[in-house]
Amino acid sequence: MVSGGARAVARCDALGVAPYSDMADGLYRGYLTPAYAHAQAALAGWMEEAGMAVRRDPAANLIGRYEGLDPAAPALLIGSHIDSVRDAGRYDGPLGIMLGVEAVAALHRAGRRLPFPIEVIAFGDEEGSRFPAAMLTSRAVAGTLATEALDLRDGDGVALADAGVDVRAYLSAARAPGATLAYLEAHIEQGPVLEAQGLALGAVTGIAAQLRYQLTLRGMAGHAGTTSMPLRRDALAGAAEAMLAIETLARNAASDLVATVGRIEALPGAPNVIPGEVRFTLDVRSGDAGRRDRAAEAMIAAITIIADRRGLDLATTLVHDLPASPCDPLLMTLMDAAIAGTGQPAFRLVSGAGHDAMVMAALCPTAMLFIRCRHGISHHPAEHVDPADAERALQAMLGFIDKLGESIAAA
Ligand code: GLV
Ligand code: MN
Ligand code: MN
Repeated sequence: MVSGGARAVARCDALGVAPYSDMADGLYRGYLTPAYAHAQAALAGWMEEAGMAVRRDPAANLIGRYEGLDPAAPALLIGSHIDSVRDAGRYDGPLGIMLGVEAVAALHRAGRRLPFPIEVIAFGDEEGSRFPAAMLTSRAVAGTLATEALDLRDGDGVALADAGVDVRAYLSAARAPGATLAYLEAHIEQGPVLEAQGLALGAVTGIAAQLRYQLTLRGMAGHAGTTSMPLRRDALAGAAEAMLAIETLARNAASDLVATVGRIEALPGAPNVIPGEVRFTLDVRSGDAGRRDRAAEAMIAAITIIADRRGLDLATTLVHDLPASPCDPLLMTLMDAAIAGTGQPAFRLVSGAGHDAMVMAALCPTAMLFIRCRHGISHHPAEHVDPADAERALQAMLGFIDKLGESIAAA
């Protein structure tokens, strides 16, 4: 018989190809794309099979609800995201949702109801790979999103308002404070720590603080054959120098600080035209928000000097500022015990990757369970998770749910 963990992995694999992907030879599932709709339809079927009532909230998150003994009790939310980066691995996001579905399926098969309802939620926009924003849909649920943040266009100029959601109703996805018992997210580690420890699972202590900027350097486009080198205001050469300055500052910090330029676009983008405008992203993270902020400030200052020297104009937009997010200490203890219950020692680690959990922490206590992934590879098609590790994660989640129920009964 196939285990629930293996089925969760197989379902992520099934969603890794068309029509659940928007790209031909790999996986890209953007928020509100055709692949997104197909993935939601498949997931809705799996949620129903597992005994859940399915709905879509105003931010286009898919939610499956499994009633508890007391329908009015605050719900345990279990979730992760269904969107992906471009040319993605198959497990970053969907695995946490599929394991949530399997946890409910196991309870349903056993005819068990908890003192609280369980809702499995598939968030829509964690990665920010379509619109210039990230974690939009969990921010809507956590009630930390402002209306102005919805004024977004994707790379093709399509407004969020025309992409399949009603932006006037969007913020009503917010949950009332106190109406959510806790948020649990299982996720592949996306790093090498668990593998190096020889462990399948770890309880997350917290998530590093993130800053993300959109930067634009403007110079002067011109003829590549006739404009002599001293007369050029080449925005792409300026961006190249800026990227090296960013890398040097991050390396010299010799700490947990990391900085990445992950997307760059040169305009007009022709071999015989000097680039007149370059747009690029800057992502800066550290477990220490002060260190992150000082580094980002130094990076912007360095880019400003480079721009001035090269006669370029610099425009800087802050895309998001996500504070470091500690997981709930009591829930961490429950997770340690749940992990130990699967037969491996409890182990704790910090997350450098961002997760919807860091946004949900504004709404309720959060817990995260990390699952070993091969060679720590993620945001890459080679992402791999062992079905036996996924099954162990499922058992830990079920143990966690039981312990949460016991802690409520004892309170
Ligand atoms: C999400 O994967 C992030 O850490 O940016
Ligand atoms: Mn990711
Ligand atoms: Mn993720």
